[in-house]
This record gives sequence, structure tokens and C-alpha cells, in this order.
Amino acid sequence: MEKVKSYIEQNKDRFLDELFGLIRIPSISANEKNRNDMLKAAEYVKYSLLKAGADRADIMTTSGHPVVYAEKEVKEGLPTVLVYGHYDVQPEEPLDLWKSPPFEPEIRDGKIFARGADDDKGQLFMHVKAFEFMTAKEMLPCNVKFMIEGEEEIGSPSLKNFCAENRELLESDVILLSDTTMISLDTPSITTGLRGLSYLQVEVSGPNRDLHSGLYGGAVANPANVLAEMIAKLRDENNRITIPGFYDDVLDVSDDERKEMAKAPFDLKAYQDALEIETVSGEAGYSTIERTGIRPSLDVCGMWSGYTGEGAKTVLPSKAYAKVSMRLVPNQDSHKVDQLFEDYFKQMAPPGVKVEVKSLHGGQGYVSPIDTAAYQAASKAVEKVLGKKPVPFRSGGSIPIVSDFEEVLGVKSILLGFGLESDAIHSPNENYPLENFFKGIETIPYFYRYFAEMSK
Ligand code: BES
Ligand code: MN
Ligand code: MN
Repeated sequence: MEKVKSYIEQNKDRFLDELFGLIRIPSISANEKNRNDMLKAAEYVKYSLLKAGADRADIMTTSGHPVVYAEKEVKEGLPTVLVYGHYDVQPEEPLDLWKSPPFEPEIRDGKIFARGADDDKGQLFMHVKAFEFMTAKEMLPCNVKFMIEGEEEIGSPSLKNFCAENRELLESDVILLSDTTMISLDTPSITTGLRGLSYLQVEVSGPNRDLHSGLYGGAVANPANVLAEMIAKLRDENNRITIPGFYDDVLDVSDDERKEMAKAPFDLKAYQDALEIETVSGEAGYSTIERTGIRPSLDVCGMWSGYTGEGAKTVLPSKAYAKVSMRLVPNQDSHKVDQLFEDYFKQMAPPGVKVEVKSLHGGQGYVSPIDTAAYQAASKAVEKVLGKKPVPFRSGGSIPIVSDFEEVLGVKSILLGFGLESDAIHSPNENYPLENFFKGIETIPYFYRYFAEMSK
């Protein structure tokens, strides 16, 4: 197993070339115009897995973008690891803020800059290359399956069904994915919690057409003003969400556990400096780590109405819109929260406007227990390669399909992410440090070894 280091050393340029080939395909799941690129990326992943040593790799159709499924059976009866990842990426906008083109990967300061460099092409490719090493050296101690989807960034609308229809094919002992962050390579961590999500779009309608803001201003409810007021009322002066019943299912974390969490190193000054903000802001009574890790949140992700072009146009808009995301903690149900939001928002509307609310996507949170063979194997593997025992860490991000895996397949997931918060995923200049990429490739084979040993 120690050979993994030299294998990486000898093949690193090829690994990067191959990853760059995948990154160059603009597989943006949200854009209809990239439909063909989705297929190209799926094919690329399929051939990468075949070349890396899979017995079979197939592009399986779904009601949306296809899933790449691959497997290698070493021996019947050995434990099976199912690797999950996603080949789709977020849109690249705003393009003018990128220092190098988003789909032309470039290495600067020891980092790969490109859309998908981390999320999730870079991280998923670590698994392809670790698998290649293990098959090349005939060292694979268990059976491996891959399920790589193309719809994660749009809420995985087809994958739950896909899992239900392919239960036998996907049978496994643990699901392994690298699609999260680590505190740093010096302070390794393993993600043990993900937040759930309710993502809604609201529409406030007033008069039947845009009006002259002089002739009508002051006499007709303005949907843009109304929407701003309604949104402002969704949180109080302590930054608590005011939707009735919103906190009913939020589980309080015990003081002991909060003390334990507070031991994870966190540099508030560095956090603020990296974002160029003077101070953080959030729910009163909780630290920054707690605000993203164990508490729910509500944010406007986009808002539009009236005239937004160049110069001034004196108009009173007929409609106003907003996209609102609520991050939920485990035990909060996203469908229930959708309903609570809708009821409250409609009831808040003043006379003279109509309100519509629709759910765009969502899903449940996830907690990964640490007293399992799989978690212990991951912890040992990280410690072996990075030299320190990783701390369990609850992330603010969401991968809703992970709780569906547990529900539909009955299998727990291990979130072995090597990204950093500074990788700017979903933002301009997304990047992934080469060191994280190579350390990931080095760590994964140890996970397989320890997991196989511990499952005996
Ligand atoms: N890989 C991210 C989620 C993530 C990143 C979790 C870092 C923890 C740490 C994933 O691709 C993502 O962006 N998820 C979406 C949810 C989805 C329904 C669009 C998110 O969190 O916004
Ligand atoms: Mn991701
Ligand atoms: Mn993402």
C-alpha cells in the first residue's frame, strides 16, 4: 500500500491531464443548452472508469441526465463500497470575475482553477485514480461500485427513483463520497453532518401591468416594496426565523456536545478577512461554527422586479420575485418547512397584492454516526496519510440525496471530503489545491484496506 505515493509521483501529470479533459466539458446541469455536454461528461467518466479497471461501466438513462454506473467484483462475499459523485457543475456566471476561463483549467499557486475543479470533478477523480492504483497493483480488498450522477447541482430530481429501481444493483455495505470540505490538511476533519434544504420561489403580483410611478405612486401597492417588507419580517432582531412552528423540530444540541464542537480550531479573524467583511452576523447566542453546523438559516438567493437596466425608468412594477433558501438541521422535514413558509408568507401579504409560492427543490439533512466500522476506517486512513486524527465536523452545506440513500438503499454514507472552504465552489475562480487532490488519492486506498479489515 505504501506504493501509492510513488504511483502518484510517477503518474501525476497524466492524472491531471485526464482530470482536465473532464473539466473542459461544460456539464452545467441547470442549462438546457448544455444537454449534449452532459452526455459527453458521462461518457468521459464511463471511459475513465473502464480504463481504471472496472469490469463494466454503463451510462444508465434516468428521467433526467444519465447516471454512470460501474463495478469491479474482486470476490463474492467481500464487503462492497459504493462510491458516489457528481459530474455536473454549477453555472459559471458571473464570467467577468474569472481570472482564467472557467472551463479551461489552469494551475496557479499550486491550485487548479476551473469550474468543477473541486465540486465535484476534482474530488470524484481522486476516486477514479485511487481505484486505478488498486486495480493496477491488484490490491483491492473489497468489491467496488460507482454511481456518478449528473443532477446533484439541481437537487438530484431523478436519483431517488433510480435508486429505488436499482436496489439490487446498488447493494453495498457503505457509500463513500468526496463532495465536502475539510478544515485543512493540517487540521483534518471528516464531515459528520449535512444540512437539509427548502428552496422556494415567491411571486408577489400587484397591478395588471407596470405603471407610471408618478401617476400611480402612493396609491397602489407596489409588489417590490411589499416583497422587501415581507422578506424583512422573516427574521427578527436576533436573527431568529419568525415563521410559526419553524423551530418545532429543531433538536437542541447538548452543552457537552457544543463544548466538544468548540474545540475544533476556528480563526474568526481569518474567516472575516478572507471574505473582506468587518464582522460576522447570525443567530444570537451561537458561534459562527454553530450557526452553520447545528442551526437552521434563511437567505434570499436572488430577487428581481421592475426595471433593472441601465439608467432610470420611472415605473411601478406589476410583479416582484425572490428565491429563498432555508438550510435545515437534521429532524426538520423540508416538505413541512415548505408548507410552514407558504402559509406564513401568504398570510403576511397586505391587501392589494397576490402571493404565490412554489418549491424548487429540497431535501433532508444527514448525520453520520462515528461509532461505525466505516467511520473508524475513514478516520484511520486520514490519520495514516495526514498524520493527525481527524475531528468530526458538521458542515453547513447540503447533499440531500445522502439521506435518500439511507431511506431507499438502507446504507449509511461516509463524507470523506478533501475540499477547503477557500476553494470558492459555486463562485468565480473555483479552485482545488493540487496537494488536496493528491492527498485524497493517497488516502482512499487506506480506507478500503481498513474498511475491509474492520468488516471481517
Ligand atoms: N458539494 C456540495 C455540497 C457541500 C459542499 C457540502 C461543501 C458540504 C461542504 C454540493 O454540490 C452542493 O452544492 N449542494 C447544494 C445542494 C443542492 C440541492 C443544489 C447546496 O448545498 O447548495
Ligand atoms: Mn458537490
Ligand atoms: Mn455544488
